[in-house]
Amino acid sequence: MKVPFFRFDSIGERIKEDLVKIIESGRLTRGEFTKKFEEEFKNFLGVRWVKTVNSGTTALYTALRALDVKGKYVVLPALSFMATVDAVLLAGGIPLVIDVDETYTMDINQLEDALKRYDVKVILPVHLFGNMADMPSISWLAQKYGAYVLEDSAQAHGAMLEGVKAGAWGDISAFSFYATKNVSMGEGGAVAVKNPSLVERVKKLLDFGDTPAFNFRLSEFQSAVGLNSLRRVEENNRRRREIAQRYNESFKDIFQLQKERGYCVYHVYSLRHPKRDLITEELGKRGIATKVYYPYLLHELRNTPHLPTPNAQKFKKELFALPIYPSLTDEEVDYVISTLLEIAQKL
Ligand SMILES: Cc1ncc(COP(=O)(O)O)c(C=O)c1O
Repeated sequence: MKVPFFRFDSIGERIKEDLVKIIESGRLTRGEFTKKFEEEFKNFLGVRWVKTVNSGTTALYTALRALDVKGKYVVLPALSFMATVDAVLLAGGIPLVIDVDETYTMDINQLEDALKRYDVKVILPVHLFGNMADMPSISWLAQKYGAYVLEDSAQAHGAMLEGVKAGAWGDISAFSFYATKNVSMGEGGAVAVKNPSLVERVKKLLDFGDTPAFNFRLSEFQSAVGLNSLRRVEENNRRRREIAQRYNESFKDIFQLQKERGYCVYHVYSLRHPKRDLITEELGKRGIATKVYYPYLLHELRNTPHLPTPNAQKFKKELFALPIYPSLTDEEVDYVISTLLEIAQKL
């Protein structure tokens, strides 16, 4: 059996009608689908205002520009996709990279160290692999030290902690709707704003007017695809969690699992083992595709200031990800489990 790392859902039948409607109307951008997507996503998150953009990277960049980080420290975790640090650099901020804990999100003790030692303008937690960062502690520390909070929620559509969704904790938040994300439109992103003082600042950066601005707009086609995906995200997240629970039960005595915080939506299912490279090679030989998230740490990648990162250094060498997506069948899950257990026996 071959199990791909990701399989695209066929969306043709479901959205054909919407796409035809867009073509027939002739309104290809800034139309009803984008408006509807922004309205429904805003209600889904429970935030004040949502504006779509063309990627998660531009969402982060726009949020950081709105927070005016030029020449200021932005604290972020060592383990994330490179766009998290790149957006800070592009916006003129100074990335200050700190360690992660067993949830693979920002280490809170180190965050407080960083806040004590540096004049930090923005705390930028990442809800990695669909798992919530420790937002109650981060919010408390942000208030104590007078910093803004920008959540990188690119991997956490629908994740929740204490009844509050990822993206609705901080002052502002960035989402990606890249093809493999839990809410997808192929390419796309959104800035979600909770702090009322930031709404006008984001608007100014996106609409041609007072400030020189890029055009980061989506087309109506992308919004129609995204709307369809958004309406299925809760059901799809439940399926992801069901698969993760089966994996967790099967692997908990052999591998190190990601420690869950709150309602994790498993954008990525990760395991840790010192013999990672051997295991992924053996899985590959048996038709099971895996990936390494992430083979780099952000401060090493971009040579930025950082605190010691012993956990992230270790995790970088041990982490690997198994297939997890809504269309993964029970038979495929069974095959992944039995194959990995068989490999583990021989380690
Ligand atoms: C944590 C994180 N931040 C930012 C991004 C950037 O999003 P995009 O690829 O849509 O630019 C991604 C995903 O790709 C991501 O996983």
